[in-house]
Amino acid sequence: MKLIEKLGLNALHRMDPEAAHGMSIKALKSGLTPAPGPVTTPRLKTNLAGVDLPNPVGLAAGFDKNGEVLAPLSRAGFGFIEVGAVTPRPQLGNPKPRLFRLTEDKAAINRFGFNNEGMEVMAKRLAERPKDAVIGLNLGANKDSEDRAGDFAKVLAHCAAHLDFATVNVSSPNTEKLRDLQGKAALTALLNGVIEIRDALPRPLPIFLKIAPDLTEPELQDIAEVARETRVDAVIATNTTLSRDGLRSAHKGEAGGLSGAPLFEKSTRVLAKLSQLTGGEIPLIGVGGISNAEQAYAKICAGASAVQFYTAMVYGGISLAADIAHGLDQLLARDGYDSVAEAVGSKREDWL
Ligand SMILES: Cc1cc2nc3c(=O)[nH]c(=O)nc-3n(C[C@H](O)[C@H](O)[C@H](O)COP(=O)(O)O)c2cc1C
Repeated sequence: MKLIEKLGLNALHRMDPEAAHGMSIKALKSGLTPAPGPVTTPRLKTNLAGVDLPNPVGLAAGFDKNGEVLAPLSRAGFGFIEVGAVTPRPQLGNPKPRLFRLTEDKAAINRFGFNNEGMEVMAKRLAERPKDAVIGLNLGANKDSEDRAGDFAKVLAHCAAHLDFATVNVSSPNTEKLRDLQGKAALTALLNGVIEIRDALPRPLPIFLKIAPDLTEPELQDIAEVARETRVDAVIATNTTLSRDGLRSAHKGEAGGLSGAPLFEKSTRVLAKLSQLTGGEIPLIGVGGISNAEQAYAKICAGASAVQFYTAMVYGGISLAADIAHGLDQLLARDGYDSVAEAVGSKREDWL
């Protein structure tokens, strides 16, 4: 991390976390943040569910909820960017405060509840997107919707023309009963609805499913079966957790989803289990607690074809994206791999 970024982070950490996030979006808009351009090497170039990535290190959903900083993010070193979650209609989300830093634990708790400007605004911003980046959208449902399952399909239909992939997010803990949509029958119906819309598009795009880390083994088995039957293109494991195990920070009792370092092991175990249950047939994206190249590599060896991160940026800055990608390249070379794909699942057993 450069000194200027360190000073910026120190200043942000003296602010309320949600205000600090707003400032970091402003800093990105004004070009004050590192822009190393696309980080790529022949070893890092990879394919995720039919999408070519310059490197497998992505930005997780929730950082750029409204697609405000697509261009600067596309120059920050990430191999792919997921924006959103976006719902059909704009909504305010939960009352503030709703984002908490757990500094001693290198973690965060959020209970935003899908605050966003809605799909119309997002589609307009996506229409102006940089064409050389890989950009996907996290699909959400309005809290007061009469047809939550239908909301996912609605957002997809409205925004698909500008996207490289879309994610069905039924794993946010901050919208009451949303996670019930992870059950077998509800999930099958929801995914079939989304995939029907996708198949009718002039330019079909891959559909990913994002799951929670708090699922039991039978629930994971159901999800693996549904993923196979509905033929989703990839599964993202995982979203934030409701668990509070081993935390030290003052805010550990806040309600919401926990992300960052304490989530690493739990989410990697879910990833490895899912890799085993799907027999490596469905590409997986590993998310949860990644803050360095070793952890990104560990997720790949546990079964991920690509990874994403968010919370570590709060503590390590956006330059982490390029650092992790470069470090991953070195780790692959060290172990004699010529490509990311060769390493996928090579140490899955260690996490089972
Ligand atoms: C403030 C915040 C907002 C988030 N919003 C979303 C969201 O809208 N949709 C989603 O699928 N995940 C959301 N997430 C979850 C992240 O995408 C990611 O799955 C999770 O934080 C674990 O990764 P990390 O430990 O690297 O942060 C959010 C996370 C944070 C910290």
